[in-house]
Amino acid sequence: TSEENVTWLLKEESGRVELKNCIRNPGFDDADAAENTGSDPGERQESATVKLDTDEEYNQLQPYAGMPKEVLLLYSTRARYRVPREILFWLTVCCMLALLAVTITVIALSPRCLSWWQVSPVYQVYLRSFKDSDGDGVGDLRGIKEKLDHFLELHIKSVWISPFYRSPMKDFGYDVEDFQDVDPLFGSMKDLDDLLAEMHNKGLKLIMDFIPNHTSDRHRWFNLSRNRDPLYEDYYIWADCNVTSPKPNNWVSVFGNSSWTYDDFRGQCYLHQFLKEQPDLNLRNPRVRQEIIDIIHFWLAKGVDGFRMDAVKHILEASHLRDEPQVDPNKPPELITTEWDLYHDYTTSQVGLHDLLREFRAEMDVYSREPGNYRFMATESYDYQEVDKTMMYYGTPLLKESDFPFNFYLLDLPQNISGWWAKHLVDLWMTNMPRGKWPNWVVGNHDRSRISSSAGKIYIRAINMMLLTLPGTPTTYYGEEIGMENINITKSQIASRDPERSPMQWNGDMNAGFNNKTNITWLPVHPDYQTVNVEAQMKDEGSVLSQYRSLNRLRQSELPFQRGWFCYILADTNVFSYLRELDGHKRAYLMVINFGKQSATTDLSSIQELPADLKVLMSTNPVNDGKLFQKSRILTEPGEGLMMQYSTYTRFHPNHPAECFVSEKACYMETIDILYKC
Ligand code: GLC
Ligand code: MG
Repeated sequence: TSEENVTWLLKEESGRVELKNCIRNPGFDDADAAENTGSDPGERQESATVKLDTDEEYNQLQPYAGMPKEVLLLYSTRARYRVPREILFWLTVCCMLALLAVTITVIALSPRCLSWWQVSPVYQVYLRSFKDSDGDGVGDLRGIKEKLDHFLELHIKSVWISPFYRSPMKDFGYDVEDFQDVDPLFGSMKDLDDLLAEMHNKGLKLIMDFIPNHTSDRHRWFNLSRNRDPLYEDYYIWADCNVTSPKPNNWVSVFGNSSWTYDDFRGQCYLHQFLKEQPDLNLRNPRVRQEIIDIIHFWLAKGVDGFRMDAVKHILEASHLRDEPQVDPNKPPELITTEWDLYHDYTTSQVGLHDLLREFRAEMDVYSREPGNYRFMATESYDYQEVDKTMMYYGTPLLKESDFPFNFYLLDLPQNISGWWAKHLVDLWMTNMPRGKWPNWVVGNHDRSRISSSAGKIYIRAINMMLLTLPGTPTTYYGEEIGMENINITKSQIASRDPERSPMQWNGDMNAGFNNKTNITWLPVHPDYQTVNVEAQMKDEGSVLSQYRSLNRLRQSELPFQRGWFCYILADTNVFSYLRELDGHKRAYLMVINFGKQSATTDLSSIQELPADLKVLMSTNPVNDGKLFQKSRILTEPGEGLMMQYSTYTRFHPNHPAECFVSEKACYMETIDILYKC
């Protein structure tokens, strides 16, 4: 053997017996012997052969404190010490391996956590109208800071703030004079930094507007471009034309009339897809692209959490500048003045657009790597009938683009308000959305009439209920949580969007609390502010606001709403009904929402997966809270939404796969309260 136990006894003068035991390694023999005894190895070996060979003798020897290593080794090699030690050792190894296996399994089986922009609705603050802190009649950054608790009360985490860049305000901030500065009307860079810090303190995320398509005509770049500064000459889209000659082509601006304006300084026309004070940037110029990227870095380095990318479908135009085809070929060219007169084959959704957005996205992703610091991107593009075009902004599985393109289809709900129309609009998104992507819903913004006004006041609650119970991320335009409506003002061309931009109604005091320093407000306050305001509705459990809060709380605390299946149950003239359920989760939710003009009795007796009796957890009419319905007779009034909670493990989706959708699929294990991949 390579090792042998050698034990020997040394008799000391005192007569005390000392046992020495060691593991003998033959390789060390010579050196050991030479060192310890200084004598011939043969000699030592002889003394070492005095062996203790009976157990009895062993047993007489007890271990003691301070025993030399030989004694220790003698004991430690004995079975009664060795075996438990080895068992313990292997047990530890096994436990470690088991722990490792469990960890790996848990990681492998865990579904991806939802990100902040998926968990909370996006709340849109139209800065001019939210809260005026200094009394000049226009909302500002300090104003938002004063009102941060409002978001917390609504259980909202993500706040999108409309542009606060330095701007001549021809398009209220969408005409940017300096992308790296704050307009004094809204505050200072310090105010922005303070606001951002305070928002982060409170766990809120700030999404800002990003405007890559155009600048203000007062931007330094435009000035240099007009002057043909060699570096800036091609920063914008210039084409030959003069005061008297025709425009370079028939293209029209989104705001009406030719999208070309003659600049007598440079002696050429420049393109503007919006106002003439908003010249379109030339994003085919690599220097311009680099400028955009630098701006992205500037704000992300500041800690801003995401961007709402403005007017993305317009960011490239065909370089050949050919006329766009007329919708009505017989219309005289001089009458081609609106967006609706042309097919926008050369001014929107051009090849290369998505490469640009992917490039921007990649820059943003660099900042997303720190945990909890995901940087979000949403894109704005109205593609009307061409939903496929919108969906392209989701990117591909390998090339990410926006987290979602805004879904504007629900804005069409008032056109035809009814149960089946609501379903149709919802389904338009669900069936066209690329697999594995995350839906979102918009029912209002600063460019469109408030849905409560166009659909009718009675549907406010039902719309909020649908918004907060559909799968995906809802967007709430400021004031929708209290049911604000458009103000009634004469519409001029330029101010056509003012009705939906009236000051936020905070309380029943002067100017609805929007501005309590002076009596100026940039737009009039809606006359209903005495009742429709945050303060009054906070006190009233049955208010639009209280319902919004409870719905949002439920949406965030109940897994079926966050990660569950969404299945259509029924859609008719009045009612749109759907359910939310999660595999392994006992509680499920049935929604019955009446978007019609009549009261309805809905018969769901053919839906076997539903229990016979259904209890209302929440109705938009609080009188019906807690009411019990037979599934064959569910009564709703126009504008009433019911949320019924029921308990069962029977799932609807396996039997009706064509009626159901799920994003970020997961299953729930009730016994240990975890979600797992399935
Ligand atoms: C977007 C904005 C709109 C603005 C336009 C031009 O559509 O939402 O308000 O006028 O872009 O920037
Ligand atoms: Mg453009």
